[in-house]
Amino acid sequence: MTDKRPRIVVLASGRGSNFCALADAALAGKLGPAEVVALVVDRPDAVACQEAERRSIAVERVSRKNFSDRETFEDALAQAVAKHRPDWVCLAGFLRLLSGRFLGRWPERVVNIHPSLLPSFPGLDAQEQAVAAGVRISGCTVHLVTEALDAGPIVLQATCPVEDDDTGQRLAARLLPIEHATYVAAMSRLVVQPFVVEENRLRWR
Ligand code: GRF
Repeated sequence: MTDKRPRIVVLASGRGSNFCALADAALAGKLGPAEVVALVVDRPDAVACQEAERRSIAVERVSRKNFSDRETFEDALAQAVAKHRPDWVCLAGFLRLLSGRFLGRWPERVVNIHPSLLPSFPGLDAQEQAVAAGVRISGCTVHLVTEALDAGPIVLQATCPVEDDDTGQRLAARLLPIEHATYVAAMSRLVVQPFVVEENRLRWR
């Protein structure tokens, strides 16, 4: 047994409600032994920054527009993340695809939440996609991040019914608290329980 607490760094681009859910769960001791040690954003004006500052959590701003290409941007992003020595990197509304160059720094330790039951409706506007497809049940997925968009090994999913009069926005609003609970549940298990990934399938050990 080590007394070292697992360190989580969160990457976000916007509102940051999933960041808040993880940070507040950690502060309340509900994220297993883990702590949220930093927030890294690619948009300096992301609302998530204010939420981090209110909680006295370190904030790193790595603005894409300060870099001429993706490689140098990702290297700076990785450096900002690495500075906080994470055991886990959680994407929470982080609106960029990450390359193998970044992901290879933390193999099987970068996690994302997506607002659909993957593999259905990957990419942007997942809730609108679900409503347009007429599915009766949607939900959210926490998964390990690979280079393929929203396609890595699934950690945990939760469902949310789609109502007759739903719009993408309405569904998104009902789904959000489910996302928060699911991300917390997934991370509290990931930080304590070993797993293996075989053929893109995660199995707990
Ligand atoms: C969430 O719906 C998340 O699933 C998706 O982007 C949204 C981010 O919301 N990836 P927030 O910034 O965490 O409030």
